[in-house]
Amino acid sequence: MKVFEKNGHKIIFGDAVEALEAIEDGSVDLIFADPPYNIGKKFVDLADKWESDDSYLSWCYKWLTLCINKLKSNGTMYVMTATQNMPHFDIFLRNKMTILSRIVWYYDSSSVQARKYFGSLYEPILHCVKNPNDYTFNAQDILVQARTGAVRKLIDYRKPVPTVYNSKKVPGNVWHIPRVRYRMDEYENHPTQKPIALLERIVKASSNEGDLVLDPFSGTFTTSYVAKELKRRSIGIEISEEYIKIGLRRLHIATEFNGERLRRERKTYEPSENENQTALSLFEKKSKWNTSSRKRSKAS
Ligand SMILES: C[S@@+](CC[C@H](N)C(=O)[O-])C[C@H]1O[C@@H](n2cnc3c(N)ncnc32)[C@H](O)[C@@H]1O
Repeated sequence: MKVFEKNGHKIIFGDAVEALEAIEDGSVDLIFADPPYNIGKKFVDLADKWESDDSYLSWCYKWLTLCINKLKSNGTMYVMTATQNMPHFDIFLRNKMTILSRIVWYYDSSSVQARKYFGSLYEPILHCVKNPNDYTFNAQDILVQARTGAVRKLIDYRKPVPTVYNSKKVPGNVWHIPRVRYRMDEYENHPTQKPIALLERIVKASSNEGDLVLDPFSGTFTTSYVAKELKRRSIGIEISEEYIKIGLRRLHIATEFNGERLRRERKTYEPSENENQTALSLFEKKSKWNTSSRKRSKAS
């Protein structure tokens, strides 16, 4: 296990269970856990496939229990997994925590998902708290536009005093947030990167400035990145070196890893460094030529 740390943000390069065991109990305000889903996604060093559903679930119950122990008594945890595993997570967690919301994150896709059944276009998220009478929920920080009524400037005459509809509201439990696409600035080379907008809503709602946010399966470190932007502290755990490098760069913890300069991967449509260099020297040549021709014409 290797730890990198800067300005309140910690990256742990290692196994989630081992790393969680080393974190102090009752020290974390918010956990976002987005584990491998056991559906055969290709992560750099891992096959996302367990021998059986039972072996996947018993591994999950181990880290879920550890996560609960790490939370403060007023802490919150959001957990994701594949739709087919979520009922097991739900039953396991509702005996140990209070599940406040069962969120559906849905997105559209231009590609064909399935031809002989209804393709999957959503992922479930559980929103759980340790104590339903004491938890953080910053409703004012996550308000969205209330469309019905407010947009049409309708008046609700059913009220004792006729009132205009609210123009803002706390989002419901169905969240439409686009997936991260290749051409988006935030894109990193990872098969299941979560969007900044998704984590922004979670971190804003369920933590305050200075709080400690933990992500045991960090991938591209979206959670830690958002925590940093929003002035929280963070711990991110990840087992793959390729993704650790993304985290170190995204959080500005290091510019090099084992002698390798950490740079965002160039997109196919972006010019290479050589092409940039050539364009720059052409530009320099052209401006030199312009300056000297201006001097020549002044002199004549
Ligand atoms: C679903 S992805 C998380 C994606 C992340 N939320 C993001 O926004 O990029 C799961 C991640 O868990 C990592 N992982 C798998 N097994 C692990 C383990 N035992 N300990 C720590 N990380 C693990 C994988 O390498 C993968 O990056």
